[in-house]
Amino acid sequence: MSSHSYQTALITGASSGIGRAIAERLVKVGMKVYALGRDAKALDALASACGVTPLAVDLHDIAPLRELFGREAIDVVVNNAGLLPAIAKFGETTPADIDNMIDINLRAPLHIAQLALDGMVRRKRGHLFFIGSSAGRFPHPNTAVYGATKAAVSMFCDSLRCDLLGTKVRVTEIAPGRVQTNLYRTALGEQGANEKLYEAYRSIQPENIAELIATALALPEAVDVSRMEVFPTDQAAGGSQIVTVD
Ligand SMILES: NC(=O)c1ccc[n+]([C@@H]2O[C@H](COP(=O)([O-])OP(=O)(O)OC[C@H]3O[C@@H](n4cnc5c(N)ncnc54)[C@H](OP(=O)(O)O)[C@@H]3O)[C@@H](O)[C@H]2O)c1
Repeated sequence: MSSHSYQTALITGASSGIGRAIAERLVKVGMKVYALGRDAKALDALASACGVTPLAVDLHDIAPLRELFGREAIDVVVNNAGLLPAIAKFGETTPADIDNMIDINLRAPLHIAQLALDGMVRRKRGHLFFIGSSAGRFPHPNTAVYGATKAAVSMFCDSLRCDLLGTKVRVTEIAPGRVQTNLYRTALGEQGANEKLYEAYRSIQPENIAELIATALALPEAVDVSRMEVFPTDQAAGGSQIVTVD
């Protein structure tokens, strides 16, 4: 059973990867979990496996969530859905991909946070999680827009904590390095992602991120883990590049 008093959670991007692992973990601690994603089949399979409540929704339009937040007291929201449609220099990134990343990685989490906070602030309880990225904390080549959306989420979390002082609502950003999921499947294909990113490397597993969330939730209400930066032991960020020019 849960070691905290939160009862209901909503997790975006729960049809796959990190979100699915978080959903399974929170069901295990006794929470009612709304699992969101577009892939209704995957969500139904998750519902059969562990008892989440599936909700198929494309986060380009969050209107369907308004009704849910209006009728259900949701204590925990994990803004996890995200995408990285291409790995390309900024000049080669299509305008559609730019908009898609801004919409799903940034715009949707902000709107969902606003919907969630209305009730959380009134009830004086709640915990918002945002899955950021190491790409929002350190520069990475070929992911400028993705990094910009994640950096915006990171500063949003810090600023939101200022606005929420005195409300008892907690805000946590988790900024991981490489986690073994389907995130790079669009950009590299499944086989390409496995060969390039996972086969020769020891990545973080989605269950490890779920464990961090469970740990932050279980801490006393007076303790807010504001940010967790988590890397594979075998990955480091930083350094700079230098090139010769004609
Ligand atoms: N994997 C990594 O190395 C890594 C590192 C740092 C941060 N992250 C972040 O972790 C989060 C989860 O990603 P993941 O690695 O678990 O990748 P993933 O396995 O590809 O999962 C992404 C999730 O986002 C959902 N999603 C994408 N577009 C959506 C849309 N338009 N509407 C609703 N849901 C949508 C997908 O659901 P549907 O396809 O069903 O819509 C899926 O459940 C992302 O925010 C990502 O940026 C990942």
